[in-house]
Amino acid sequence: MEPNFKHLLHSGYSHPTLRLWQEERPLLAHQLMYPIFVSDRTDSKLHEIKSLPEQYQIPVDKLVEFIEPLVAKGLSSVIVFGVLTRDDVLKKDETGQCALHEQSPATRGVAALKKAFPKLLIAADVCLCAYTSHGHCGILTPEGHIDHQKSIDMIAKVALAYAKAGAHVVAPSDMMDGRIASIKSLLYKEGYGNTVAVMSYSSKFASVAYGPFRDAASSAPSFGDRKAYQLPSGSRGLAVRASERDEEEGADLLMVKPAGPYLDILRDLRENSRLPIACYHVSGEYAMLWHAANAGAFDLKAAVLETLRGFRRAGADVILTYYTPRLLDWLKE
Ligand code: PBG
Ligand code: ZN
Repeated sequence: MEPNFKHLLHSGYSHPTLRLWQEERPLLAHQLMYPIFVSDRTDSKLHEIKSLPEQYQIPVDKLVEFIEPLVAKGLSSVIVFGVLTRDDVLKKDETGQCALHEQSPATRGVAALKKAFPKLLIAADVCLCAYTSHGHCGILTPEGHIDHQKSIDMIAKVALAYAKAGAHVVAPSDMMDGRIASIKSLLYKEGYGNTVAVMSYSSKFASVAYGPFRDAASSAPSFGDRKAYQLPSGSRGLAVRASERDEEEGADLLMVKPAGPYLDILRDLRENSRLPIACYHVSGEYAMLWHAANAGAFDLKAAVLETLRGFRRAGADVILTYYTPRLLDWLKE
């Protein structure tokens, strides 16, 4: 008896080109955004981050030299994180005032990149945790809760400082309610309403996978955790509402973070929204693949490509990943 030919699938992917045609949302270099840690060190050396192997804290003075070969390979965007390692110039305090300083490594880093690479898209992460003495992402009340209004006022000022330094995109990762409206309003008042995009970390879950990042940025909370402002990992409705709310408040891009465990949320947002959606392949996800590959479990390149194709398939338009430098080579092979 003849088979049902509709059920014979192999013929449809029997050639490499046929296989490419089955990929509805191919992975391309311009979709990658590289997260970089810019530090206040003056020794001009790259400091490898122990828990984030082959990633570095980069002193501001080294930044252009570090990024140059990547731009030559086709790097199209970065997101800058400032790292304070000293307390002789900028001191962390209760409200994170040093985030506003013109000499902060984030501000200087953004300005240096803007000057050196006129075509590179420069995003700046906006948060207080690397600048507050307690390491929380907002300003606290005397009882240790989030002071909501003070936090979003301050977050907007930090976003404005990065816009003034030349950032094309400001990306609030603090998760305070109402921050997108607060940022949009200040940027508009100050004349940046048309020229600076707001990429909201809109569906950001409380995750173990941020551990290596907190080493890299020296931003771990000194007490408690972030569960009062980052999303519960089992939530779906709440996570979708958080992104819908940020879209209502005027966000230009949405984000799901971490990426791998939350592909369903990525798909939910893709189906609900017309905005570009980013996903953040976070530090712990980077480290998991790196260690597994180095322990012989699989080939790193194949694992990273499969992972990122999953993000694309689920609906990501932009992928923030520490594998960007390698991917710029891999995607050409
Ligand atoms: C700061 C911030 C974090 C990350 C990006 N911005 C850490 C956190 O919220 O604790 C995580 C990125 C990563 O793990 O790669 N708010
Ligand atoms: Zn933070």
